[in-house]
Amino acid sequence: METEVGGGLNRDLFGKNFKWGVSTAAYQIEGSHDKDGKGSSIWDTYTERKNKILNGHHGRIACDFYMRHQEDLALVKKLNIPNFRFSTSWSRILPEGTGTVNQKGIDFYNRIIDTCLENGTDPWLTLYHWDLPLALEKKGGWTNRDVISWFAEFTEICAKHFGDRVKHWMVMNEPMVFTGAGYFLGVHAPGRTGAKNFIPAVHHTVLSISEGGRILKDMLPAAEVGTTFSCSYIEPYTKRPKDVNAANRIDTLLNRMFIEPILGLGYPEKDLPFLKKIGRYMHPGDEDKMVFDFDFIGVQNYTREIVRNSFITPYVQASLVKARNRNVPYTSMGWEVFPESIYEMIRKFNAYKNIKKIYITENGAAFTDHLVDGAVDDVDRTNYIKDNLKQVLRARNEGLSAEGYFVWTLTDNFEWSEGYHPRFGLVHVDFETQQRTIKLSGHWYSGFLGGANDQAAPDLNCENSTLISSIASKS
Ligand code: NOJ
Repeated sequence: METEVGGGLNRDLFGKNFKWGVSTAAYQIEGSHDKDGKGSSIWDTYTERKNKILNGHHGRIACDFYMRHQEDLALVKKLNIPNFRFSTSWSRILPEGTGTVNQKGIDFYNRIIDTCLENGTDPWLTLYHWDLPLALEKKGGWTNRDVISWFAEFTEICAKHFGDRVKHWMVMNEPMVFTGAGYFLGVHAPGRTGAKNFIPAVHHTVLSISEGGRILKDMLPAAEVGTTFSCSYIEPYTKRPKDVNAANRIDTLLNRMFIEPILGLGYPEKDLPFLKKIGRYMHPGDEDKMVFDFDFIGVQNYTREIVRNSFITPYVQASLVKARNRNVPYTSMGWEVFPESIYEMIRKFNAYKNIKKIYITENGAAFTDHLVDGAVDDVDRTNYIKDNLKQVLRARNEGLSAEGYFVWTLTDNFEWSEGYHPRFGLVHVDFETQQRTIKLSGHWYSGFLGGANDQAAPDLNCENSTLISSIASKS
C-alpha cells in the first residue's frame, strides 16, 4: 500500500510570518539534577519512589542537555528550525523556590539564550513546565495559596535576567495535566490524589497564570506573552444522551476549565458541577484576578478521545474508550492517530472571541523506532506531522488563527511516568552513549523548512510501518 501523504505540502502555503519551531522542557532533557547548586524538584524525588515510573527511569541524566546544549542547539540550526522552545527549571534558579538566586542557574539559561541568538534561532521561554521546587511542595505546593507569590517572585527574576533577549514567553505548560495527573490521580509528581488536593491546586494555578502574565507584560511591554493548554477533541461513544452528556463533562474538564476563567468567563461549573467546590478557595476579588488578556494562547494537541457514560467514575461519571479497543491506529502512548483533532481544536479555541492569536506550541507522536545502519526510518512520525500540518493549513485557509507550529520534540527524552520508552524526537538518542541520530522525520522537517517542497522529500511507503501493522494485527 502506497500512502503518499505529503502531496503538495510546502512551507510557503503557511505564509512568511508563520512561526516554525520545536518544543522541549527542562526536566525532560537537562539531567545534571544536582549540579552547580540546583535544588531538588518534585520530579527529582517522585522518580526515586518505587513503581512510579515505568522501568524505574528518572531524569538524573536524561539527554544531558545541561552539558550538551551547544551540540543540540547546533542541531536545531542544522535542521533549519527557526524557533526553539525551552523551559526554565525553577529549582535551578531558586534552589529553595524563593530567596537566594543560584547564579549558575541564571548563567545556564543565559548560555541557551545567547547560543540560540548566535545561531539565528529565536528562543521561546516557558516559565513552568511541571518541575516545582521540592522546598515549596513541602509547604503544600500548588495547594497552598502562597504559591501565587512564590511564582510571582520566580517570574520577576526570569523577566529581569532574560527579558532583554527573550521576546516570546509562555507562563505555564498544560496546567490541566500537571494538576490532574499530579494532584488528582497521583500518577505524576508530586503524587497527590483526590479533590481536596486537585481543587485548590486548580484555583491557585489559574491565579498564578494570570499573575505571571501581568508581571511579564508590566516588566516587558514589548514581549509577546502567552500561556499553553493541552486539549483533545472529544466525541461521544454513541449518540445516546448519556454518552453525549458524559462527553460534554470531559470536554469541560480537559478543554475548558483553565482557559475560561482566564478569559473572564468564570469556571464552567454549569457543565461540570463538581467545580462548585472551587468556591471554598475563592477570595474576594479573585474573579477579576483570574483574568488576563494574553497576547497568544498555545494550543497543544495530540489526539481525540471517545467518551462514554460511567456511573462508577467519581466526579465526572464518564470514562475514555481506549484507542486500542476501537480498531483505530494509535501511537506508542496508546493515543489515537486522528489528525482532524488538531483542526477541531483550532476551531474550538478560535471560537472564544477574546483570544487574540493562537500558536500550536506542541504536536507530535511517539512510535517505536529502529536504528539500523545509522538511520531511523520513522515513516509513521513523518506522516503524523505532515497529516497534522495539513489540518493546520485547512484551518488557516478557513481564516482561523493558527500562526505557528512547534513539533514535540527535538530529541527523544524522558516522557514522565512512561520513562524513556516513548520516543517523540525528530532526533534519536541512544541513552547509553548519548549519541544523536537525525531521524527521517528530522530530515523531512529540515527539508520542508529549508524550502524543499514535499516532492523532494523521500517517498513514504507505509507498508511495514508500525502504525499500519498495529491496525492490521487487530483486524
Ligand atoms: C505534553 C507535555 O507538555 C510534554 O511534556 C509531553 O512530553 C508531551 N505532551 C508528550 O506527552
